[in-house]
Amino acid sequence: MTVVTRASELTAALAEYGRPRLLVPTMGALHDGHVALIRHAKELAGAEGTVVVSIFVNPIQFDRPGDLAAYPRPMEADLAACRAAGVAVVFAPEATAMYATDRSVTVSESRLSRNLCGAARPGHFDGVCTVVLKLFLLCGCDMAVFGEKDFQQLAVIRRMVRDLNVPVTIVAHPTVRETDGLAMSSRNVRLDTAQRADAPRLRHALLAALAAYQTGTRTTAELLATARQVIEASALARIDYLSLVDAESLEAVERIERPALLATAVFYGEVRLIDHVRLAP
Ligand code: PAJ
Repeated sequence: MTVVTRASELTAALAEYGRPRLLVPTMGALHDGHVALIRHAKELAGAEGTVVVSIFVNPIQFDRPGDLAAYPRPMEADLAACRAAGVAVVFAPEATAMYATDRSVTVSESRLSRNLCGAARPGHFDGVCTVVLKLFLLCGCDMAVFGEKDFQQLAVIRRMVRDLNVPVTIVAHPTVRETDGLAMSSRNVRLDTAQRADAPRLRHALLAALAAYQTGTRTTAELLATARQVIEASALARIDYLSLVDAESLEAVERIERPALLATAVFYGEVRLIDHVRLAP
């Protein structure tokens, strides 16, 4: 496995490897969710292809300086995980190598970013789009794999690729969960014991609403109330948002007439966790 920190080294390293070239962009602190994405990329790459993993804690997508500072950065363990998963090249640049101090061009998404995580995190998805497009260009990848766990991020990236004719095929991978249902996240390690024990509540709340939906409840107000009750029963959890949105436009819906998503973000102390379920008519 080749590990590079500079764009010029990346180009030289990649010249040694075959196509298709698949990129799995990450911010490191790799867990089994990331590894599942890497394994899926390996399958798609086949015998001739190449899997590249980027590890970069992208400063311009963080809206809270404390969250950026606290973001875990276990580089040695991450490299070991990549090696074990059969990654060919790891690109792990410094922030100074990615962003000029006088940079003045960014990618901006103005529609899908307005709700959900975008409403609470101004500039977040512009930061994501900008870094992802830069990583696509630096890697010259044919395909890139993203997790459905961050479904708004996935939707925004698909929109960027469509609207800017980016020649990269976007592949989605289902959410990978702990055995108790909590969606795996690099932020889970920042939960204390009581918070960690309570956190599967997000999943339970969404599944309670899904069960209500499956037994005939159709109105947004009732479905949201069902999920809200479960989350608010905890003294540790604080709802950032709980929304029912159209699965494509991500706009709030009153009734479910097309595929929809029930999505939530919940704070445990300073740690913000997200999850969602699909509701199909
Ligand atoms: P990060 O949070 O490290 O996630 C990297 C990729 O792993 C994303 O596509 C994310 O959706 C996926 N992922 C994380 N947890 C997952 C889980 N439990 N199941 C399935 N997939 C999961 O998302 C980012 O980094 C950044 O915003 C990035 C795209 C790298 C741009 O900086």
